[in-house]
Amino acid sequence: MLVINTCRNTARLALRSAWLRNNVPISSPIASRTFSLGLALKQQDVVNVTFVRANGTKIKTSGKVGDSLLDVVVNNSVDLDGFGACEGTLTCSTCHLIFKTNDFEKLPDKPGDEELDMLDLAYELTDTSRLGCQITLSKDMDGLEVHVPSTINDARSA
Ligand code: FES
Repeated sequence: MLVINTCRNTARLALRSAWLRNNVPISSPIASRTFSLGLALKQQDVVNVTFVRANGTKIKTSGKVGDSLLDVVVNNSVDLDGFGACEGTLTCSTCHLIFKTNDFEKLPDKPGDEELDMLDLAYELTDTSRLGCQITLSKDMDGLEVHVPSTINDARSA
């Protein structure tokens, strides 16, 4: 992000200098090329994720590479009651999500002991369950579809 802003500022200064020296029109290719580069970088980072409620309703969202699935829910204002109650501190299990077997097997990181302990407290646990706050998006996850259990358990209230 900082690089993009720096490029924009540099391009803006170069454009302004050129305009002052040579009366270059404001629609110079320098400005539009810089804008297009920024947009292209942004598109590369986008990861589309669909959340499927227990009733089958699909919620299409997008995040960016490096976001957790909890970030995606929060940043897209997805209405999942109680989801992510502990804000990713691994103390609630409300971010329980169920993956398709193929997607589950491709996840790069396996759950640690803390996540497994929290998963044990989740309702509707399956062999392909994970905690959304522990899943970090990568570009190859684009098109991911995850199922949201019908009930959640906030382990903090036990
Ligand atoms: S948000 Fe609480 S365990 Fe993931």
